Amino acid sequence: MMVPNTRFMFGLISLHLMMGNCTSGNEMCKASIGGRRGACPPTWNQWGRKCYKAITERLTWSEAKDECIKMGSVLVVPQSEEETDFLLQLQQSNFWINCNDLQDEGTWKCENDEVEFRNWSTGPQYPQPDNWDGEHCAEVWVDQEGKWNDVRCDSQLPAICNQPAPQLHF
Ligand SMILES: *[C@@H]1O[C@H](CO)[C@@H](O)[C@H](O)[C@H]1NC(C)=O
Repeated sequence: MMVPNTRFMFGLISLHLMMGNCTSGNEMCKASIGGRRGACPPTWNQWGRKCYKAITERLTWSEAKDECIKMGSVLVVPQSEEETDFLLQLQQSNFWINCNDLQDEGTWKCENDEVEFRNWSTGPQYPQPDNWDGEHCAEVWVDQEGKWNDVRCDSQLPAICNQPAPQLHF
């Protein structure tokens, strides 16, 4: 009986979509229908419980942030030294992170961070953030082992997006 079966399968898949963590983008949901537990969508790289994608195109901070959102993800905020090491393998030039002090100069806020990990560069010459030339967005400095620096938000840099790895609940 082709028709009922198809409907039944469709129903199961819809149910799964509703139950599963499928709020952050279709690509991710497709991956979980495939039955690969914890598998990231194609072209995304898994580390721990998250999937990461490097954007090599140079964008302003807000463009980069929007680009991540368009893909059902968020601009990354490193949460540990270990995660930073992983990010440095994905991206070979300095990249944007989801932190800024646009609202209140000197009060840095990071979005979607689960832990309070901050790793501003301490030198060699200038401790960061230094607000040099009105810098209100943050980057990871690749040549300083992943320490953070403040940059003008209209600078153009690559980025890394992330989203939770798909989870199957049945
Ligand atoms: C900050 O980054 C440096 C370089 O990667 C690392 O050695 C240090 O442990 C980091 N700090 C913290 C608090 O993890």
